[in-house]
Amino acid sequence: MDNRKLQELFNEMSIEEKIGQLFQVTGAVYEEEAVISGPIKELGINERDIYLAGSVLGTMGAKKTKQIQKKYMEKHPHHIPLLFMLDIINGYKTVYQIPLGQGAAFEPELARKCASMAAREAAADGLHVTFSPMADLVRDARWGRVMEATGEDVYLNSVYARAMVEGYQGEDLSDKETLAACVKHFAGYGAAEAGRDYNTVELSERTLRDFYLPAYESGIQAGAELVMTSFNTIDGIPATINKKLMREVLRKEMGFDGVLISDFGAIGETITHGVSEDRADAARRALEAGVDIDMMSGVYPQTLYQLLKEKKIELEMIEECAWRVLKMKNKLGLFENPYKGADEDLAEKQILCQEHKELAETMATKSFVLLENKNNILPLSKGDKVLFAGPYVNRQEMLGAWSFTGDISDTITIQQAAEKKMKNYEVCFCQGCPILPKEMKLDGFVNYKEEEFGEKEIEKMLTEAESKAKQADVVVLALGEHFLQSGEATSRAMIEIPENQMKLLERIEKINPNIVVVLFNGRPLDIRKIKQRAKAILEVWIPGTMGGNAIVDMLVGNNTPSGKLPMSFPYCVGQIPIHYDELNTGRVHVQGRDKDRYVSKYLDVQNKPLYTFGYGLTYTNFRISEPVLSKNSMRTGERIIASVKVKNCGERSGVETLQLYIHDVAASVARPKKQLKGFQKIELQPQEEQEISFVISEEILRFTREDGVFSSEEGEFEVFIGNSSEEERRAKFVLKSE
Ligand code: GLC
Repeated sequence: MDNRKLQELFNEMSIEEKIGQLFQVTGAVYEEEAVISGPIKELGINERDIYLAGSVLGTMGAKKTKQIQKKYMEKHPHHIPLLFMLDIINGYKTVYQIPLGQGAAFEPELARKCASMAAREAAADGLHVTFSPMADLVRDARWGRVMEATGEDVYLNSVYARAMVEGYQGEDLSDKETLAACVKHFAGYGAAEAGRDYNTVELSERTLRDFYLPAYESGIQAGAELVMTSFNTIDGIPATINKKLMREVLRKEMGFDGVLISDFGAIGETITHGVSEDRADAARRALEAGVDIDMMSGVYPQTLYQLLKEKKIELEMIEECAWRVLKMKNKLGLFENPYKGADEDLAEKQILCQEHKELAETMATKSFVLLENKNNILPLSKGDKVLFAGPYVNRQEMLGAWSFTGDISDTITIQQAAEKKMKNYEVCFCQGCPILPKEMKLDGFVNYKEEEFGEKEIEKMLTEAESKAKQADVVVLALGEHFLQSGEATSRAMIEIPENQMKLLERIEKINPNIVVVLFNGRPLDIRKIKQRAKAILEVWIPGTMGGNAIVDMLVGNNTPSGKLPMSFPYCVGQIPIHYDELNTGRVHVQGRDKDRYVSKYLDVQNKPLYTFGYGLTYTNFRISEPVLSKNSMRTGERIIASVKVKNCGERSGVETLQLYIHDVAASVARPKKQLKGFQKIELQPQEEQEISFVISEEILRFTREDGVFSSEEGEFEVFIGNSSEEERRAKFVLKSE
């Protein structure tokens, strides 16, 4: 619809209709004859509201969404279509690697393809909006939602946020196979104190701007149609009603003119935060901050009309929000086709098609990180007797906490894949132990129950694993977190694998030291004990529908590992928050000089993480030369080319990820020891050598200076190019002012 007609429609709408665009309901209310019960009733929403609400949360299915849309539009006074919104975080029905694992691939283009695939499947099933990408920077593995982020680095998160938005939204949002993307959670949610979900966030403005905001901005610049507010406070004010954050930073500075939606119930929670006095006050504050849609707190439908009558808010504020919602519906093409992509036949064809499953498998393969490979025990030697043991050997639940749209029965397990792919091996399988200790119970979005075993059965599992381990050349232990131990509201103060699984590892190690651990987890874990006991550790995160295939192909060498850590693995939880791009401090602890007392260090553990950002082994080994610069000084507008020679010195082909880091040696504020500014992946055949170059421009040296201006400063810089953030060889250049 052209803007003029949209404006005419808007002018005809009643105030109630405009307020209706600002809140949402769950689809259940349209399925039965408007039986108002449960969460909807608690929201104070009545029968009349239901046919005024602007959007639906959590309903999917081509047939169902079309039925709801038809019935709703017949009843709506101006037949304005509903928006169907849902969390599609790592795939719809073809579930792929969790975002933290996607970040490990260092391939944003692959993440874009996956997002595009998810949009194709979900749009065919009637959805219009996904609450993704999550662009929160994460430095604290105690926080369970790190699984939904792409890691601890500003640059990596920024390129992924852009790629995912482009993947979901495509070129034209009215296209049937696209979804509107929602960048979340604005802002700084990943910095929850003590890693405790929903907790207070204390960040300096500079840290917020230079580390936490860029990835949101990158998603917004890519055209994200929505932004979601975060549950936390920023500067002591709940983000959802923080006018400076939302009006100044998001709308004015970042130029965001899309729809701002609150997180689930967040407007109402501003009362609990101790800022809004009551629901009406919360509504007024959220409206003043420019929150366009109230997600499931009921505050908007309950209070806005009254606030208007009492002249506590202006009609223009409501109209500003309603207009943005209507504009988005128009961009989605819903006025021309309220059913958009909903199409049962197309959904049948698209969902879990071969092309999608192959893409999910590729994403998994590229996301795996080889953390240890002592004596090159991997890839497994043909003819070996291999025991696969552990709770993940024949477990289909490897889709992650946010994949309630996926079906675990579609998942290929490690055992199924091994039985098919390892004809040249002697393989056997056993569970070895339950995934959780008996006393541990977890909740998820759905009431999830693990099979329970008695003490005797558990002991029997262990002894069966021991006896099979005796006969094996190699034992592959598939261990890790339960999928409900990562995700929302899953903060953990102790970040190890369940102790009953550790017991299995210890018992096996006594019998057979040739242990390969395949690790499933949604966050960095404290895996010191695993590192001591295993010859190899393959980090597979939560790999999705095709995880089993990808894992076995990697273990036997059909594919080679190329992933790099997007988030540091702490030596122990006491080091957290830990991240590679830390500041130097004035008293640097030099690794190995532990006698130095008055330096920034611990008495009881090392400073270094167990595995640092950017680290990951391959099945071969690469030699990387010292960095060489095309010149050693530059002015604004000029560029420096930084190059290295990379040689594959092994017998296998392999992929290496060259990472460019820069350190601003002296600036008006202390700058990180190094920061990622670029990366390139290259595949080299044995003995093959290539030169890899990066462009250094003045733009990539900018930061928020002492005076608050975002700009570079003249002076000396150090350049590192390596295969992890541990690279210490450097070259230097000087940035000269005009
Ligand atoms: C949740 C999450 C948010 C999600 C929303 C809708 O509380 O914080 O990421 O998109 O509710 O499910």
